[in-house]
Amino acid sequence: MKGRNSGCWCLVTLTLLLSFWQGQAWAEEETVCLQCHVAQPDALGEAVIDWRQSVHAVNGISCHDCHGGDPTDFAMAMSPERGFLGAPAGNDIPAFCGKCHLGVAEIYQDSAHGRALGKGGPQCVTCHDNHRVQLASHDLINEQDCSRCHSYDRAAEIKQAVKEIDLGIIVANNDLSALKRIGIRTRPLEDKLFALRNDYHRLFHTVEIEKVRKAATDYRSRLAEITAETAAVNARLDTRKVWGGATVVLLIIAAVVLLQLKKSYDTRTSGED
Ligand code: HEC
Ligand code: HEC
Ligand code: HEC
Ligand code: HEC
Ligand code: HEC
Repeated sequence: MKGRNSGCWCLVTLTLLLSFWQGQAWAEEETVCLQCHVAQPDALGEAVIDWRQSVHAVNGISCHDCHGGDPTDFAMAMSPERGFLGAPAGNDIPAFCGKCHLGVAEIYQDSAHGRALGKGGPQCVTCHDNHRVQLASHDLINEQDCSRCHSYDRAAEIKQAVKEIDLGIIVANNDLSALKRIGIRTRPLEDKLFALRNDYHRLFHTVEIEKVRKAATDYRSRLAEITAETAAVNARLDTRKVWGGATVVLLIIAAVVLLQLKKSYDTRTSGED
């Protein structure tokens, strides 16, 4: 009887612990901003649906990180005293996103696009969207989006220069992932590639064809270095595999020889009997 009771208590404690743990995880990710906005109509609720599919959601950048406010207090969430900024007007968007993307914002500001801000030029959201922001790639440069304000010719030329390096980065990334899967330490190479990728994707914002072309040459050689290093690691692995294979063969031969010796010894000793 006593035994069954303590079993019961064990179960209750376990359930309590589990629900507490789940509650903690929930509290961390569900801010009051998300809880209230998801139930709102139109743009207010769509913000949540779009944001959930964004590169920002994946990296833990939530509503309050961009818009400010208090993500823990239902009543005061959107009060200016708690740092709520509201939604920025078009001309303020580069500074709004530039809080975190400093390098990009600076380059943009000095570009033909930045100089045309407020005079028909595009800003960050024109190209990246506000809530559905995706990992950047040359796919963002396309006829539909880039011919809204001028001809696509110059855009197409920039895309050509950008695309080649983008593909090189993807190939190098796949090589690194393959090494990582078999347990090779790839951190220094990954860091190199990450830095190169960021530098290069930022450069687009100059929208200067000559600048992008010139830099492409430099990036190509930096990328070649990374590819050469992964190839060297792969070659070392291959020789190790060959030696590993050779060792196994030698061991098998040794085992067969030993077995033969033992057999002949056994027959000899049984013959002596
Ligand atoms: C209790 C519900 C509720 C909570 C909590 C809440 N919001 Fe809102 N939010 C609304 C409603 C309703 C509106 C539209 C009316 C208005 O602007 O007050 C709105 C509007 C907004 C806007 C647009 C404002 C504009 O200038 O157009 C932004 C941005 C926003 N909320 C972000 C946030 C953020 C960030 C948080 C958390 C820190 C948050 N909200 C918390 C209900 C909520
Ligand atoms: C990466 C920064 C960023 C994040 C994260 C973000 N927003 Fe926004 N949000 C913006 C910008 C920029 C605008 C202004 C967009 C414009 O004018 O095109 C905006 C506009 C809005 C608006 C005004 C209506 C609209 O769609 O233009 C609401 C409401 C809003 N955001 C709510 C939210 C909520 C709720 C979240 C969390 C799910 C969120 N935002 C997350 C950048 C962000
Ligand atoms: C509170 C800081 C913050 C703000 C504000 C912010 N971002 Fe981000 N953003 C990040 C972080 C963190 C990442 C993920 C790490 C990275 O890739 O840099 C990211 C990633 C991105 C990426 C993908 C980068 C890549 O590697 O391909 C784009 C594009 C982007 N943000 C655009 C924007 C735009 C547009 C705005 C304004 C509407 C904005 N961000 C506002 C923090 C921010
Ligand atoms: C005319 C369209 C356009 C505008 C305007 C624009 N971007 Fe981009 N952005 C791109 C393209 C295209 C890429 C990817 C280029 C590539 O693949 O090499 C990119 C790449 C990025 C990246 C990834 C680079 C990195 O460091 O990881 C970030 C972040 C980013 N943009 C943020 C911004 C912000 C912030 C603004 C506003 C200050 C802005 N963008 C304005 C088109 C634009
Ligand atoms: C909202 C309007 C708008 C959109 C969208 C837009 N641009 Fe532009 N772009 C401009 C304006 C304005 C200028 C400056 C005047 C000019 O050179 O035509 C410009 C200039 C340029 C230049 C010339 C820069 C120079 O100094 O030689 C290039 C290249 C360019 N844009 C590429 C792009 C690409 C690529 C895209 C798409 C990712 C794009 N633009 C989308 C408005 C836009």
